[in-house]
Amino acid sequence: MYTQAMDLINKNDNDHADAPDPVREQAFEARIAAGEFIEAKDWMPGHYRKTLIRQISQHAHSEIVGMLPESNWISRAPTLKRKAILLAKVQDEGGHGLYLYAAAETLDISRDQMIEALHNGRAKYSSIFNYPTLTWADMGVIGWLVDGAAIMNQVPICRCSYAPYARAMIRICREESFHQRQGYEALLTMMQGGTAAQKAMVQDAVNRWWWPSLMMFGPPDSESPNSAQSMRWGIKRVSNDDLRQKFVDATVPQAEILGITLPDPLLHWNAQRAHYDFGPIQWDEFWRVVNGNGPCNHERLKMRVDAWESGAWVRDAALAYAKQKTPQTTAQT
Ligand code: 3HC
Repeated sequence: MYTQAMDLINKNDNDHADAPDPVREQAFEARIAAGEFIEAKDWMPGHYRKTLIRQISQHAHSEIVGMLPESNWISRAPTLKRKAILLAKVQDEGGHGLYLYAAAETLDISRDQMIEALHNGRAKYSSIFNYPTLTWADMGVIGWLVDGAAIMNQVPICRCSYAPYARAMIRICREESFHQRQGYEALLTMMQGGTAAQKAMVQDAVNRWWWPSLMMFGPPDSESPNSAQSMRWGIKRVSNDDLRQKFVDATVPQAEILGITLPDPLLHWNAQRAHYDFGPIQWDEFWRVVNGNGPCNHERLKMRVDAWESGAWVRDAALAYAKQKTPQTTAQT
């Protein structure tokens, strides 16, 4: 059901870009090697374009599906302040999805094609959004760990060789850092001033989200089919494993300040490596989730498709209004 989404594009529409052209390819590689940024109007090899479509569309879908696990807590937020923050955060995620769809559209794919691939299960989105949000503490932990992992992964994309993606990421990262901060602050409030039950709720949420957050960075480098080429092209600047390690190193001291225990008995500082060592990740769980069989995959996709279908009348009305309006506007100008 979930496939390598390199065939998202209707090939007939894009044959011009896929035809091999060794001279232009060499010039393109030289530009990449010189650290230049590629703009939408520039020539690029077909595989570079498809790799970007794959990554950017998956990223956009992740932002859009990422609204769902938090949205069911908006009406149950404990205070008006928390509700306003959560509402703003969920709206930000929607905005991020839209910037990213717009960035992908510059690569010769339509938004309808991307959305259809998401809805029919051909496109991937981040594994993390297939886990349930059981308590209010999950909102804090998602901000702290999930948005924290997202920032760690996304800051290097601000230097992605494809300029429209890099530009979109600059604004997204600014907003993501607010998301991470608000999550951490919500957890600090519960851990420092909360009841024993609230503290236990935070610990339980951390226990459930820690390992899936480490999985967000993708498979180990040795098993990542796309990494080598994406690194050569400057689409990815830091490898999956290096980002995961940076995340662990940054997060352990934050956990100590919070006063929670990370659920990994093998987690310890390795002075020789100057990094934290951590226990083995359950990659079979990761692939199960990525392949559509995580705890909430069906629920998330159904909710997304239902929202799209029940919004059809808004899109129809907007299109009908635009059609009606166009001749009048032209006549007036
Ligand atoms: N969830 C689902 N699929 C994943 C995944 C994950 N966490 N990690 C890897 N995969 C998939 C890849 O997409 C690839 O599948 P494909 O070949 O069919 O497309 C396959 O597993 C092998 O992985 P690779 O490491 O070879 O793939 P990439 O080189 O594309 O690296 C990535 C994966 C690191 C996620 C990279 O695509 C990336 O950096 N993407 C941009 C950032 C992004 O999409 N983040 C998602 C979270 S967004 C978010 O969290 C929103 C925030 O508001 C919280």
